[in-house]
Amino acid sequence: AEQVAIGLLGLGTVGSGVVRMVNNHQEELQHKVGCKVIVEKVLVQDLEKERRISPEPDWLTVTPEDVLNNPRIDVVVEVMGGIELAKQYILQALRNKKHVITANKDLMALHGAELLKTAADNGCDLFYEASVAGGIPIIRTIKEGLASDRITKMMGIVNGTTNYILTKMDKQQLSFHDVLAEAQMLGFAEADPASDVEGYDAARKMAILATLGFSMDIHLDDVNVKGITGVTKEDIDYARQFGYTMKLIGNARKDDGKVEVSVEPTLLPDSHPLSSVNNEYNAVYVYGEAVGETMFFGPGAGELPTATSIVSDLVAVIRNMRLGVNGKNDVAPQYEKQLKSLDE
Ligand code: NDP
Ligand code: HSE
Repeated sequence: AEQVAIGLLGLGTVGSGVVRMVNNHQEELQHKVGCKVIVEKVLVQDLEKERRISPEPDWLTVTPEDVLNNPRIDVVVEVMGGIELAKQYILQALRNKKHVITANKDLMALHGAELLKTAADNGCDLFYEASVAGGIPIIRTIKEGLASDRITKMMGIVNGTTNYILTKMDKQQLSFHDVLAEAQMLGFAEADPASDVEGYDAARKMAILATLGFSMDIHLDDVNVKGITGVTKEDIDYARQFGYTMKLIGNARKDDGKVEVSVEPTLLPDSHPLSSVNNEYNAVYVYGEAVGETMFFGPGAGELPTATSIVSDLVAVIRNMRLGVNGKNDVAPQYEKQLKSLDE
């Protein structure tokens, strides 16, 4: 193909980043994939809204079919969030033989198996690198980089908003609510920030990581979750006096075939490598029996870091298009049981 056209579902923080990257990195993209990448259409809710970027006059639509059934579009990028509608749109796009890239952890943690199976059945790719830890390529690292190893432990800071809040409460005299408002303004928080502060966003991400890392079907219900709404400035200051830092930590362990996954506020000694991961940054520690300890660090939320993961997924999709191998990606064995129950 001389060019590959993408359709976006959503033009908020992440969608704007994707447009910016496709425009600003056109030369690099063309060099890497051998063709031009263009934005064809963008689904939004409000045509009049002021946006982070200025869309081309013919881009915006409020009609989903303009993206999902558009014969000119090869790849649909879902960055609108939510579960039911996003799922319906992604399924429709896949059935129309469009590859899909999503940043939606809520959706992947709940319906990942079904969506991956639909993608494979339709010869399409479905990639979701941006759904965990924003700009850190952790999904590819676990699926590919560490594929040979037996992973037994993962631990990390996987929510940027709560890490931003805890950092600012610790280092500046700011209240929980002021810092949350700041994180929302910067575009880190979810549409409903309760997902962030109550730990569910981190729990969804840990469920995705544990599913991939342990090759087991781990559900959200399997994750013990406690958020940071009960953490006070006094708790943080008290811990600081004794050389401890409060972090929202996701933990996943596999021992003798038994898996435990949790998310909870945790006091870390200042010497702990995760205690110096600040603001919206994330870090994931992965222990593999052969490789030993590994650690991955980077921005976990925000416009361009998240867009980097999405556009890298786009590069992977276009490379697969050139090789004619789209949809040959895994519907991993761990999903077998879940898929069987869908068939019944
Ligand atoms: P925003 O709220 O900034 O943007 C959402 C966009 O989707 C808006 O443009 C909105 O339209 C559009 N939209 C929402 N619902 C509908 C609908 N029913 N029909 C049509 N358009 C709709 O969200 P973000 O960009 O922050 O997040 C998008 C996704 O990326 C979410 O799944 C989020 O969890 C995920 N994510 C976000 C990260 C971040 O740092 N923000 C990082 C990693 C993942 P309109 O503008 O007209 O209101
Ligand atoms: N709300 C999420 C966070 C966005 O703060 O980490 C990135 O997934």
